[in-house]
Amino acid sequence: MAGYPTGVAYPATHQPAIAPAHLAAAAWLAGQGHPAIDRPYRFCELGAGSGFTTNLLAAANPFAEFHAVDFNPDHAAAGERLAWAGALPNVRHHALDFAAAREALPDCDFVALHGVWTWVGDAARRDVLAFLARRLRPGGLVFVSYTARPGMDGVAALRAAILGAGLLAEEQPPAERVARVRDWIARLRAAAPALADQDPTLATYIDAFGAMADATALHDFLAPDWRAEFHTAVRDAMAAIGLEWVAEADLPMNLPGAALPAAQAGLLAEGGGEALKDLLHRRTFRRDIYRRPGPAAESPLRWLWRNGGSGDPTPAAVAAGEVVPLVAEPPAAAGLPRLSPFNRAALEIGIGREDARILAATATGGSVVLDRTTAYILAAVASAGPGGGARMMARRLVAEGRSIAAGGRTVADEAGLTRLLEPRIAAFEAAELPQLRELGVVA
Ligand SMILES: C[S@@+](CC[C@H](N)C(=O)[O-])C[C@H]1O[C@@H](n2cnc3c(N)ncnc32)[C@H](O)[C@@H]1O
Repeated sequence: MAGYPTGVAYPATHQPAIAPAHLAAAAWLAGQGHPAIDRPYRFCELGAGSGFTTNLLAAANPFAEFHAVDFNPDHAAAGERLAWAGALPNVRHHALDFAAAREALPDCDFVALHGVWTWVGDAARRDVLAFLARRLRPGGLVFVSYTARPGMDGVAALRAAILGAGLLAEEQPPAERVARVRDWIARLRAAAPALADQDPTLATYIDAFGAMADATALHDFLAPDWRAEFHTAVRDAMAAIGLEWVAEADLPMNLPGAALPAAQAGLLAEGGGEALKDLLHRRTFRRDIYRRPGPAAESPLRWLWRNGGSGDPTPAAVAAGEVVPLVAEPPAAAGLPRLSPFNRAALEIGIGREDARILAATATGGSVVLDRTTAYILAAVASAGPGGGARMMARRLVAEGRSIAAGGRTVADEAGLTRLLEPRIAAFEAAELPQLRELGVVA
Protein backbone atom coordinates (compact mmCIF):
# COMPACT_ATOMS: atom_id res chain seq x y z
CA MET A 1 0.00 0.00 0.00
CA ALA A 2 1.22 3.51 -0.79
CA GLY A 3 2.29 5.72 2.10
CA TYR A 4 1.04 8.98 3.49
CA PRO A 5 -1.54 10.74 1.22
CA THR A 6 -0.13 13.65 -0.78
CA GLY A 7 -2.85 14.22 -3.38
CA VAL A 8 -5.09 16.25 -1.07
CA ALA A 9 -3.73 19.17 0.96
CA TYR A 10 -4.11 18.97 4.74
CA PRO A 11 -6.27 21.79 6.16
CA ALA A 12 -4.27 24.43 8.06
CA THR A 13 -4.40 23.92 11.82
CA HIS A 14 -3.04 25.78 14.82
CA GLN A 15 -1.21 23.79 17.50
CA PRO A 16 -0.53 26.05 20.51
CA ALA A 17 1.03 23.22 22.53
CA ILE A 18 4.13 23.05 20.32
CA ALA A 19 5.27 26.58 21.27
CA PRO A 20 8.73 26.48 22.89
CA ALA A 21 7.41 28.59 25.79
CA HIS A 22 4.70 26.00 26.39
CA LEU A 23 7.21 23.14 26.26
CA ALA A 24 9.40 25.00 28.76
CA ALA A 25 6.40 25.46 31.10
CA ALA A 26 5.73 21.70 30.95
CA ALA A 27 9.39 20.93 31.69
CA TRP A 28 9.25 23.40 34.62
CA LEU A 29 6.20 21.56 35.98
CA ALA A 30 8.15 18.31 35.79
CA GLY A 31 11.12 19.91 37.57
CA GLN A 32 13.29 19.40 34.49
CA GLY A 33 15.54 21.63 32.45
CA HIS A 34 14.81 23.17 29.07
CA PRO A 35 16.61 25.42 26.57
CA ALA A 36 16.35 29.18 27.14
CA ILE A 37 13.22 30.63 25.52
CA ASP A 38 14.07 34.32 25.74
CA ARG A 39 17.18 34.32 23.55
CA PRO A 40 18.13 32.85 20.17
CA TYR A 41 17.31 29.17 19.70
CA ARG A 42 16.40 26.92 16.79
CA PHE A 43 13.03 25.20 16.37
CA CYS A 44 11.95 22.64 13.76
CA GLU A 45 8.49 21.29 13.04
CA LEU A 46 8.46 17.92 11.22
CA GLY A 47 5.36 17.22 9.12
CA ALA A 48 4.30 20.84 9.50
CA GLY A 49 1.42 20.74 7.00
CA SER A 50 0.95 24.20 5.56
CA GLY A 51 3.14 25.59 8.31
CA PHE A 52 0.72 28.03 9.92
CA THR A 53 1.87 27.26 13.46
CA THR A 54 5.58 27.48 12.62
CA ASN A 55 4.98 30.82 10.89
CA LEU A 56 3.05 32.10 13.89
CA LEU A 57 5.83 31.02 16.24
CA ALA A 58 8.38 32.80 14.06
CA ALA A 59 6.29 35.98 14.36
CA ALA A 60 5.88 35.52 18.11
CA ASN A 61 9.60 34.85 18.72
CA PRO A 62 11.41 37.09 16.24
CA PHE A 63 14.79 36.51 17.94
CA ALA A 64 14.72 32.73 17.24
CA GLU A 65 15.07 30.65 14.06
CA PHE A 66 12.27 28.40 12.75
CA HIS A 67 12.15 25.56 10.22
CA ALA A 68 9.09 23.73 8.88
CA VAL A 69 9.55 20.40 7.09
CA ASP A 70 6.92 18.67 4.96
CA PHE A 71 7.40 16.49 1.91
CA ASN A 72 4.23 17.76 0.27
CA PRO A 73 5.47 20.66 -1.91
CA ASP A 74 2.03 22.30 -1.84
CA HIS A 75 2.26 22.47 1.95
CA ALA A 76 5.75 24.01 1.91
CA ALA A 77 4.67 26.52 -0.77
CA ALA A 78 1.65 27.57 1.33
CA GLY A 79 3.96 28.08 4.31
CA GLU A 80 6.34 30.12 2.18
CA ARG A 81 3.49 32.37 0.95
CA LEU A 82 2.36 33.18 4.48
CA ALA A 83 5.96 33.79 5.57
CA TRP A 84 6.23 36.34 2.73
CA ALA A 85 2.91 37.97 3.56
CA GLY A 86 3.99 38.15 7.20
CA ALA A 87 7.45 39.52 6.32
CA LEU A 88 9.10 36.84 8.47
CA PRO A 89 12.87 36.69 7.95
CA ASN A 90 13.40 33.96 10.58
CA VAL A 91 11.47 31.02 9.10
CA ARG A 92 12.13 28.56 6.29
CA HIS A 93 9.73 26.01 4.79
CA HIS A 94 11.46 22.92 3.41
CA ALA A 95 9.76 20.62 0.90
CA LEU A 96 11.74 17.61 2.15
CA ASP A 97 11.03 14.24 3.66
CA PHE A 98 12.32 13.47 7.13
CA ALA A 99 15.39 11.59 5.87
CA ALA A 100 16.48 14.46 3.61
CA ALA A 101 15.76 16.97 6.38
CA ARG A 102 18.18 15.14 8.64
CA GLU A 103 20.95 15.96 6.16
CA ALA A 104 19.80 19.46 5.24
CA LEU A 105 18.79 21.10 8.50
CA PRO A 106 21.04 22.45 11.24
CA ASP A 107 20.89 21.21 14.87
CA CYS A 108 17.82 22.24 16.84
CA ASP A 109 16.86 23.06 20.44
CA PHE A 110 13.18 22.21 19.95
CA VAL A 111 11.60 19.72 17.54
CA ALA A 112 7.83 19.25 17.25
CA LEU A 113 5.77 16.63 15.47
CA HIS A 114 2.05 17.10 15.77
CA GLY A 115 -0.30 14.74 13.98
CA VAL A 116 2.56 12.78 12.45
CA TRP A 117 3.59 9.73 14.50
CA THR A 118 0.20 7.97 14.23
CA TRP A 119 -0.14 8.64 10.54
CA VAL A 120 3.19 7.62 9.02
CA GLY A 121 4.60 4.13 8.49
CA ASP A 122 7.55 2.38 10.08
CA ALA A 123 10.09 3.75 7.60
CA ALA A 124 9.07 7.38 8.22
CA ARG A 125 9.08 6.77 11.99
CA ARG A 126 12.63 5.47 11.72
CA ASP A 127 13.50 8.61 9.73
CA VAL A 128 11.98 10.79 12.46
CA LEU A 129 14.03 8.99 15.11
CA ALA A 130 17.18 9.30 13.00
CA PHE A 131 16.47 13.05 12.63
CA LEU A 132 16.10 13.42 16.40
CA ALA A 133 19.19 11.31 17.09
CA ARG A 134 21.26 13.53 14.81
CA ARG A 135 19.66 16.99 15.08
CA LEU A 136 18.34 17.45 18.62
CA ARG A 137 20.90 19.26 20.73
CA PRO A 138 21.78 18.07 24.24
CA GLY A 139 19.23 19.59 26.62
CA GLY A 140 16.75 20.01 23.73
CA LEU A 141 13.03 19.17 23.90
CA VAL A 142 10.81 17.18 21.54
CA PHE A 143 7.03 17.39 21.26
CA VAL A 144 5.29 14.31 19.83
CA SER A 145 1.56 13.70 19.68
CA TYR A 146 -0.23 10.51 18.73
CA THR A 147 -3.52 8.69 18.78
CA ALA A 148 -3.44 6.71 21.99
CA ARG A 149 -4.41 3.34 23.33
CA PRO A 150 -6.45 2.09 25.06
CA GLY A 151 -9.05 4.80 24.30
CA MET A 152 -8.78 4.32 20.53
CA ASP A 153 -8.85 0.53 20.53
CA GLY A 154 -12.46 0.44 19.30
CA VAL A 155 -11.67 2.90 16.52
CA ALA A 156 -8.60 0.83 15.57
CA ALA A 157 -10.89 -2.20 15.28
CA LEU A 158 -13.22 -0.17 13.02
CA ARG A 159 -10.27 0.75 10.81
CA ALA A 160 -9.12 -2.84 10.65
CA ALA A 161 -12.61 -3.80 9.49
CA ILE A 162 -12.59 -1.03 6.84
CA LEU A 163 -9.26 -2.34 5.57
CA GLY A 164 -10.54 -5.90 5.71
CA ALA A 165 -13.55 -4.88 3.60
CA GLY A 166 -11.11 -3.65 0.92
CA LEU A 167 -12.39 -0.07 1.14
CA LEU A 168 -9.02 1.69 1.14
CA ALA A 169 -7.79 0.43 -2.22
CA GLU A 170 -5.43 3.08 -3.59
CA GLU A 171 -6.59 2.87 -7.20
CA GLN A 172 -9.81 4.76 -6.44
CA PRO A 173 -9.80 8.56 -6.49
CA PRO A 174 -9.59 9.85 -2.89
CA ALA A 175 -13.09 11.36 -2.85
CA GLU A 176 -14.56 8.06 -4.00
CA ARG A 177 -12.64 6.19 -1.29
CA VAL A 178 -14.09 8.46 1.40
CA ALA A 179 -17.60 8.17 -0.07
CA ARG A 180 -17.40 4.36 -0.05
CA VAL A 181 -16.21 4.31 3.56
CA ARG A 182 -19.00 6.72 4.54
CA ASP A 183 -21.57 4.53 2.91
CA TRP A 184 -20.15 1.39 4.52
CA ILE A 185 -20.11 2.97 8.01
CA ALA A 186 -23.74 4.02 7.59
CA ARG A 187 -24.65 0.42 6.70
CA LEU A 188 -22.60 -0.87 9.65
CA ARG A 189 -24.45 1.47 11.98
CA ALA A 190 -27.82 0.31 10.64
CA ALA A 191 -26.85 -3.36 10.83
CA ALA A 192 -25.31 -3.19 14.32
CA PRO A 193 -26.92 -0.24 16.15
CA ALA A 194 -25.63 -1.38 19.58
CA LEU A 195 -22.02 -1.77 18.42
CA ALA A 196 -20.84 1.55 19.79
CA ASP A 197 -22.86 1.50 23.03
CA GLN A 198 -19.95 0.39 25.20
CA ASP A 199 -17.42 2.65 23.53
CA PRO A 200 -18.24 6.36 23.44
CA THR A 201 -15.13 7.12 21.37
CA LEU A 202 -16.17 4.65 18.69
CA ALA A 203 -19.69 6.10 18.79
CA THR A 204 -18.32 9.62 18.30
CA TYR A 205 -16.16 8.50 15.36
CA ILE A 206 -18.99 6.71 13.66
CA ASP A 207 -21.17 9.82 14.06
CA ALA A 208 -18.45 12.28 13.08
CA PHE A 209 -17.29 10.43 9.99
CA GLY A 210 -20.50 11.20 8.11
CA ALA A 211 -19.87 14.95 8.45
CA MET A 212 -16.05 14.97 8.23
CA ALA A 213 -14.48 16.94 5.36
CA ASP A 214 -12.87 14.68 2.77
CA ALA A 215 -9.37 16.08 3.39
CA THR A 216 -9.65 15.52 7.15
CA ALA A 217 -11.01 11.99 6.69
CA LEU A 218 -8.23 11.06 4.27
CA HIS A 219 -5.41 12.46 6.38
CA ASP A 220 -6.67 11.79 9.88
CA PHE A 221 -8.40 8.44 9.75
CA LEU A 222 -7.86 6.76 6.41
CA ALA A 223 -4.12 7.37 6.02
CA PRO A 224 -2.82 3.89 5.15
CA ASP A 225 -0.39 3.66 8.06
CA TRP A 226 -2.66 5.05 10.79
CA ARG A 227 -1.91 3.39 14.13
CA ALA A 228 -2.87 3.98 17.77
CA GLU A 229 -0.09 3.51 20.32
CA PHE A 230 0.44 2.93 24.01
CA HIS A 231 2.52 5.62 25.69
CA THR A 232 5.07 2.95 26.57
CA ALA A 233 5.62 2.03 22.89
CA VAL A 234 6.49 5.62 21.96
CA ARG A 235 8.56 6.02 25.11
CA ASP A 236 10.58 2.90 24.24
CA ALA A 237 11.23 4.22 20.73
CA MET A 238 12.47 7.53 22.16
CA ALA A 239 14.55 5.79 24.85
CA ALA A 240 16.33 3.81 22.11
CA ILE A 241 17.78 7.11 20.82
CA GLY A 242 18.61 8.37 24.30
CA LEU A 243 15.58 10.64 24.91
CA GLU A 244 13.86 10.76 28.29
CA TRP A 245 10.17 11.39 28.86
CA VAL A 246 9.57 14.71 30.61
CA ALA A 247 5.87 15.51 30.85
CA GLU A 248 2.61 15.79 28.98
CA ALA A 249 2.05 18.93 26.97
CA ASP A 250 -1.55 18.90 28.30
CA LEU A 251 -0.39 20.61 31.48
CA PRO A 252 -3.16 19.63 33.95
CA MET A 253 -2.42 15.96 33.26
CA ASN A 254 0.96 16.43 34.99
CA LEU A 255 -0.48 17.42 38.36
CA PRO A 256 -0.54 14.72 41.06
CA GLY A 257 -3.83 12.87 40.70
CA ALA A 258 -4.11 13.99 37.05
CA ALA A 259 -7.70 15.19 37.45
CA LEU A 260 -8.94 11.78 38.60
CA PRO A 261 -11.45 10.92 41.38
CA ALA A 262 -9.77 10.48 44.78
CA ALA A 263 -9.78 6.66 44.87
CA GLN A 264 -8.23 6.45 41.40
CA ALA A 265 -5.70 9.18 42.20
CA GLY A 266 -4.74 7.19 45.32
CA LEU A 267 -4.12 4.07 43.27
CA LEU A 268 -2.09 6.05 40.77
CA ALA A 269 0.01 7.55 43.57
CA GLU A 270 1.02 4.01 44.56
CA GLY A 271 2.40 3.27 41.08
CA GLY A 272 1.29 2.29 37.61
CA GLY A 273 2.62 5.45 35.99
CA GLU A 274 1.47 6.65 32.60
CA ALA A 275 0.01 3.25 31.68
CA LEU A 276 -2.45 3.28 34.59
CA LYS A 277 -3.20 6.96 34.00
CA ASP A 278 -4.08 6.22 30.37
CA LEU A 279 -6.25 3.27 31.35
CA LEU A 280 -8.15 5.31 33.93
CA HIS A 281 -8.66 8.18 31.47
CA ARG A 282 -9.31 5.85 28.51
CA ARG A 283 -6.85 8.08 26.68
CA THR A 284 -7.54 8.66 23.01
CA PHE A 285 -4.74 11.12 22.26
CA ARG A 286 -1.49 12.15 23.91
CA ARG A 287 0.88 15.04 23.54
CA ASP A 288 4.21 14.13 25.13
CA ILE A 289 7.48 15.94 25.69
CA TYR A 290 10.88 14.24 25.62
CA ARG A 291 14.34 15.57 26.39
CA ARG A 292 17.86 14.78 25.39
CA PRO A 293 19.87 14.84 28.63
CA GLY A 294 22.19 17.82 28.66
CA PRO A 295 22.62 21.35 29.93
CA ALA A 296 19.55 23.40 30.83
CA ALA A 297 18.98 27.16 30.52
CA GLU A 298 20.81 28.87 33.33
CA SER A 299 18.36 31.73 33.89
CA PRO A 300 15.01 30.91 35.52
CA LEU A 301 11.75 31.41 33.63
CA ARG A 302 10.08 34.79 33.92
CA TRP A 303 6.28 34.71 34.24
CA LEU A 304 3.31 36.72 33.08
CA TRP A 305 0.24 36.49 35.28
CA ARG A 306 -3.00 36.71 33.35
CA ASN A 307 -5.85 38.55 35.14
CA GLY A 308 -3.78 39.73 38.11
CA GLY A 309 -1.51 37.81 40.45
CA SER A 310 2.22 38.11 40.95
CA GLY A 311 5.24 36.37 42.38
CA ASP A 312 6.32 32.77 41.98
CA PRO A 313 3.62 30.67 40.38
CA THR A 314 2.23 27.46 41.84
CA PRO A 315 2.15 24.33 39.65
CA ALA A 316 -1.66 24.51 39.69
CA ALA A 317 -1.62 28.10 38.36
CA VAL A 318 0.77 27.15 35.55
CA ALA A 319 -1.24 24.02 34.70
CA ALA A 320 -4.40 26.13 34.53
CA GLY A 321 -2.72 28.69 32.25
CA GLU A 322 -3.28 31.48 34.80
CA VAL A 323 0.39 32.27 34.51
CA VAL A 324 2.51 31.70 31.41
CA PRO A 325 6.21 32.15 30.61
CA LEU A 326 7.22 35.61 29.49
CA VAL A 327 9.67 35.57 26.57
CA ALA A 328 9.97 39.32 25.95
CA GLU A 329 8.64 42.54 27.39
CA PRO A 330 5.76 43.82 25.25
CA PRO A 331 6.79 46.81 23.13
CA ALA A 332 6.09 50.15 24.81
CA ALA A 333 2.89 51.24 23.13
CA ALA A 334 0.74 54.31 22.99
CA GLY A 335 -1.87 55.69 20.65
CA LEU A 336 -3.28 53.62 17.85
CA PRO A 337 -2.54 49.89 17.98
CA ARG A 338 0.01 48.71 15.41
CA LEU A 339 -0.23 45.24 13.92
CA SER A 340 2.79 43.32 12.64
CA PRO A 341 2.58 42.21 8.99
CA PHE A 342 2.05 38.63 10.21
CA ASN A 343 -0.83 39.56 12.49
CA ARG A 344 -2.36 41.69 9.73
CA ALA A 345 -2.24 38.65 7.44
CA ALA A 346 -3.45 36.30 10.20
CA LEU A 347 -6.54 38.45 10.77
CA GLU A 348 -7.71 37.34 7.34
CA ILE A 349 -7.09 33.60 7.80
CA GLY A 350 -9.82 31.46 9.33
CA ILE A 351 -8.44 28.40 11.12
CA GLY A 352 -10.62 25.57 12.32
CA ARG A 353 -14.35 25.18 12.39
CA GLU A 354 -15.13 28.23 14.53
CA ASP A 355 -13.49 30.40 11.94
CA ALA A 356 -11.27 31.76 14.70
CA ARG A 357 -8.47 34.19 14.02
CA ILE A 358 -5.12 33.25 15.59
CA LEU A 359 -2.57 35.99 16.22
CA ALA A 360 1.05 35.94 17.36
CA ALA A 361 1.83 37.28 20.85
CA THR A 362 5.44 38.44 21.22
CA ALA A 363 5.36 38.72 25.05
CA THR A 364 4.39 35.06 25.56
CA GLY A 365 6.02 33.66 22.41
CA GLY A 366 2.69 32.01 21.60
CA SER A 367 -0.74 32.79 20.26
CA VAL A 368 -4.03 34.45 21.03
CA VAL A 369 -7.35 33.27 19.63
CA LEU A 370 -9.85 35.94 18.61
CA ASP A 371 -13.41 35.36 17.54
CA ARG A 372 -14.25 36.76 14.14
CA THR A 373 -16.08 39.85 15.40
CA THR A 374 -13.20 40.86 17.65
CA ALA A 375 -10.82 40.29 14.73
CA TYR A 376 -12.91 42.66 12.58
CA ILE A 377 -12.85 45.25 15.35
CA LEU A 378 -9.09 45.00 15.84
CA ALA A 379 -8.47 45.32 12.10
CA ALA A 380 -10.74 48.38 11.95
CA VAL A 381 -9.23 50.08 15.01
CA ALA A 382 -5.68 49.40 13.78
CA SER A 383 -6.28 50.91 10.35
CA ALA A 384 -8.52 53.85 11.31
CA GLY A 385 -7.48 57.26 12.56
CA PRO A 386 -8.24 58.19 16.19
CA GLY A 387 -11.90 57.53 16.98
CA GLY A 388 -12.54 56.18 13.49
CA GLY A 389 -12.76 52.46 14.30
CA ALA A 390 -16.56 52.24 14.20
CA ARG A 391 -16.80 54.00 10.84
CA MET A 392 -13.98 51.87 9.40
CA MET A 393 -15.66 48.64 10.47
CA ALA A 394 -19.08 49.85 9.24
CA ARG A 395 -17.53 50.56 5.83
CA ARG A 396 -16.07 47.06 5.70
CA LEU A 397 -19.38 45.46 6.63
CA VAL A 398 -21.19 47.47 3.93
CA ALA A 399 -18.55 46.54 1.34
CA GLU A 400 -18.94 42.86 2.24
CA GLY A 401 -22.75 43.09 2.13
CA ARG A 402 -23.08 42.25 5.83
CA SER A 403 -25.60 43.58 8.30
CA ILE A 404 -26.23 43.52 12.05
CA ALA A 405 -29.56 42.60 13.62
CA ALA A 406 -30.42 44.97 16.49
CA GLY A 407 -33.67 45.86 18.26
CA GLY A 408 -35.76 43.75 15.90
CA ARG A 409 -34.44 45.36 12.72
CA THR A 410 -31.56 44.77 10.35
CA VAL A 411 -29.00 47.55 10.08
CA ALA A 412 -27.03 47.58 6.83
CA ASP A 413 -26.17 51.24 6.11
CA GLU A 414 -22.88 52.88 7.04
CA ALA A 415 -24.27 55.57 9.35
CA GLY A 416 -26.55 53.14 11.18
CA LEU A 417 -23.80 50.54 11.55
CA THR A 418 -21.36 53.18 12.79
CA ARG A 419 -23.77 54.27 15.54
CA LEU A 420 -24.40 50.64 16.48
CA LEU A 421 -20.72 49.77 16.62
CA GLU A 422 -19.47 52.78 18.59
CA PRO A 423 -20.18 51.36 22.11
CA ARG A 424 -18.76 47.95 21.16
CA ILE A 425 -15.58 49.52 19.83
CA ALA A 426 -15.27 51.73 22.93
CA ALA A 427 -15.59 48.61 25.11
CA PHE A 428 -12.92 46.88 23.03
CA GLU A 429 -10.55 49.84 23.42
CA ALA A 430 -11.12 49.94 27.18
CA ALA A 431 -10.90 46.24 28.00
CA GLU A 432 -9.55 43.96 25.26
CA LEU A 433 -7.01 46.24 23.61
CA PRO A 434 -4.91 46.74 26.78
CA GLN A 435 -4.75 42.95 27.18
CA LEU A 436 -3.67 42.51 23.57
CA ARG A 437 -0.94 45.11 24.17
CA GLU A 438 0.23 43.31 27.32
CA LEU A 439 0.55 40.07 25.33
CA GLY A 440 2.44 41.77 22.53
CA VAL A 441 -0.27 41.09 19.93
CA VAL A 442 -0.25 44.76 19.01
CA ALA A 443 2.36 47.40 19.62
C1 LIG B 1 -1.83 14.89 9.66
S1 LIG B 1 -0.73 16.04 8.91
C2 LIG B 1 -0.35 17.11 10.28
C3 LIG B 1 0.04 18.49 9.87
C4 LIG B 1 0.34 19.47 11.00
N1 LIG B 1 1.48 19.05 11.79
C5 LIG B 1 -0.88 19.66 11.87
O1 LIG B 1 -0.89 19.13 12.98
O2 LIG B 1 -1.81 20.32 11.42
C6 LIG B 1 0.80 15.13 8.67
C7 LIG B 1 1.79 15.85 7.79
O3 LIG B 1 3.00 15.09 7.71
C8 LIG B 1 3.51 15.16 6.38
N2 LIG B 1 4.36 13.96 6.17
C9 LIG B 1 3.96 12.66 6.21
N3 LIG B 1 5.02 11.85 5.98
C10 LIG B 1 6.10 12.64 5.80
C11 LIG B 1 7.49 12.38 5.53
N4 LIG B 1 7.95 11.14 5.43
N5 LIG B 1 8.33 13.44 5.41
C12 LIG B 1 7.86 14.71 5.54
N6 LIG B 1 6.55 15.02 5.79
C13 LIG B 1 5.68 13.99 5.92
C14 LIG B 1 2.26 15.20 5.51
O4 LIG B 1 2.48 15.77 4.23
C15 LIG B 1 1.29 16.05 6.38
O5 LIG B 1 1.38 17.42 6.06
